[in-house]
Amino acid sequence: MNYILIDKDTIKRRVQDLGRQISNDYSDCEIHMIVLLKGSFIFASDLIRELTPNVRVEFMKLSSYDGQNSSGQIKIDQDLDCDIHNKHVLIVEDIVDTGLTLNTLLDVLHQRKPASIEICSFLDKPSRREAPVNVKYIGFAIENVFVVGYGMDYCQMWRQCPDIRVIDDH
Ligand code: IMP
Ligand code: MG
Repeated sequence: MNYILIDKDTIKRRVQDLGRQISNDYSDCEIHMIVLLKGSFIFASDLIRELTPNVRVEFMKLSSYDGQNSSGQIKIDQDLDCDIHNKHVLIVEDIVDTGLTLNTLLDVLHQRKPASIEICSFLDKPSRREAPVNVKYIGFAIENVFVVGYGMDYCQMWRQCPDIRVIDDH
């Protein structure tokens, strides 16, 4: 079975809310947004248009050494091409699952001495957490189901779906 968990109008309203909240929190500084490829590209492109502070957009691509299973061994496939020293960094992620990816990434980025780092994730699956990660901005918390759409994929499919769908035949 395959059904809509979050429809596109609900997504739109929530992204507007997040945009207001983040704009308020960063009203006196520039945001160095780090968009984690590929899954968060649609969320980030909607979110950025709801932000009033100046936003610099950078991309990183991370992967897990053992493919599908999160191992905590994170490989940087594409790094930043800018210096984040003394900058206010906002990481934009599609979904936090075990937390292993972001936990490792935070260690890497903290070594570069930014002024601050916060995370904005469109979805969160708190019941799956294995590594602690403080996610300041969360679009929606969901149960332990596999979702696709709004940039998220299963085997590189479904990213273009405008709603979040649960697929249990994956
Ligand atoms: P983790 O938090 O290190 O376990 O990994 C999170 C990453 O796993 C996300 O950025 C997604 O790429 C992927 N992921 C986890 N759950 C889902 C899902 O339900 N659908 C699509 N991708 C997912
Ligand atoms: Mg991701």
